[in-house]
Amino acid sequence: MHPKVSIIGLGRLGAPIAGVFASRGFEVHGYDPVPEAVAGVRERRSLHYEPGLEDLLARWGDQIHTTSHLPEAVEASDVSFLVVPTPTRPDGSFSLEHVLQTTHEIGEVLAHKDGYHLVVLTSTVMPGSTDRRVRAALEESSGKKVGEDLGLCYSAVFVTMGHVIEDILHPSMALVGECDERSGRMLEAIYRSVCENDPPIARMSAFNAELTKLAMNVLVATKISIANLLARICELMPGGDVDVVTSAMQLDPRVGEGALCGAIAYGGPFLARDNQAFGTLMRRLDVARELEGTLGKFNRAQVPWLADFVQERLVDGGCVGVLGLSYKPDTDVIEASPGIYLCRRLAEQDIPLTAHDPVAMEGARRVLPPAVGFANTAALCIERADLVIVTTPWDEYREIPPEVWAHGGTPRTVVDCWRFLPHLADREGITYVPLGKGPGTPTELPPPPNPSSDPTRGVC
Ligand SMILES: NC(=O)c1ccc[n+]([C@@H]2O[C@H](COP(=O)([O-])OP(=O)(O)OC[C@H]3O[C@@H](n4cnc5c(N)ncnc54)[C@H](O)[C@@H]3O)[C@@H](O)[C@H]2O)c1
Repeated sequence: MHPKVSIIGLGRLGAPIAGVFASRGFEVHGYDPVPEAVAGVRERRSLHYEPGLEDLLARWGDQIHTTSHLPEAVEASDVSFLVVPTPTRPDGSFSLEHVLQTTHEIGEVLAHKDGYHLVVLTSTVMPGSTDRRVRAALEESSGKKVGEDLGLCYSAVFVTMGHVIEDILHPSMALVGECDERSGRMLEAIYRSVCENDPPIARMSAFNAELTKLAMNVLVATKISIANLLARICELMPGGDVDVVTSAMQLDPRVGEGALCGAIAYGGPFLARDNQAFGTLMRRLDVARELEGTLGKFNRAQVPWLADFVQERLVDGGCVGVLGLSYKPDTDVIEASPGIYLCRRLAEQDIPLTAHDPVAMEGARRVLPPAVGFANTAALCIERADLVIVTTPWDEYREIPPEVWAHGGTPRTVVDCWRFLPHLADREGITYVPLGKGPGTPTELPPPPNPSSDPTRGVC
């Protein structure tokens, strides 16, 4: 018999967690202070574009009880997962405001509830938060001690937007940060029931788990940045081919597969902010301060570089078409999206511009300046443009027939940031530019810069 679970926060992560738990036979009680979030789950609607979520809710929604009253969800459950926002503060750390407020409310319910209750913090927090401030808030408001009638864990899930359901069901590992042994044991048993692939379960202290979560995202962002850097190098070197280089690198287990495809910049709501928080941790601990901010700086410089790259290849008075506004395929999330940044940058430079995305145009319209035009179809976006740049590798762009790319008979440049449209090479009427592949045959490195022109010369 599974324990009953409450999911506190039915947002982009909480709603899929509720759906997956229900699909695995758990009785789920979902709470959110925002009525639309509650109504979404109750009516089996996904408020965010997340493939598979509506199907899951339609099939298993009967197992999910929704409420706008937190005590109802906590009282009806044995385990509460907190999936509330932890916004970034001005100093780069994560705010615990919503976590502490919710923890306090949960504690007040637990003060009068019989039996063992486990609280699992899933939101991303600064290392050291769970076992100190969160534990103190819970013990104070409940009047109970963690390790006795109360359990407390930190447990991030490792998901990418657009694949959240699959990632929860088949994680490469489950992270259990326990404040006491019993809570870790209970959470491990829950993951063994939820995950379909019997993943390794990494049990550790809450602090180490919080640090693991941040460190994983720092490493992923670093791998992406190394691949992006290699793409820039290959771009300049005739015969250079970033895919050849990264494919070989991934054969070495020290490097490993994944997150090594050279393109533009990492985006989305989590990598940049987790990196920033890691920088804050380094600053607070006064560790390796010389490294702080390096990754973010390079990442932020990528889109301005790309805007220059586009401008250099655009005919005078020409129009640019940007295909892809979400930060990755299979999601409508546009936070920190390279496509959005590129549109802004080009619009600032008064370059005529039309954009398209299969699912993110509604959100993009709200944040982009009026100078950016939108095309309802990718074909229309291409037709209007002298230069098309593909910023998000949506499958539907791959399926566009070559004649659509060449439509109109005017010469058109296609900049393919992901090199996923190789069938456009050698097409009449198209100049195909796969980013990260140097043109021509291999040559030697260019000579070092003239010392007298080095602006850093003589600077200590
Ligand atoms: N979305 C992901 O894929 C993902 C991945 C890893 C980590 N996280 C972390 O999980 C947490 C939640 O992320 P998300 O993307 O689901 O956020 P979100 O903003 O989409 O959802 C959070 C939900 O919590 C609700 N909520 C509950 N209690 C609240 C309170 N007291 N105050 C304000 N709102 C409250 C909000 O209404 C909202 O529906 C964050 O810490 C995030 O960093 C998310």
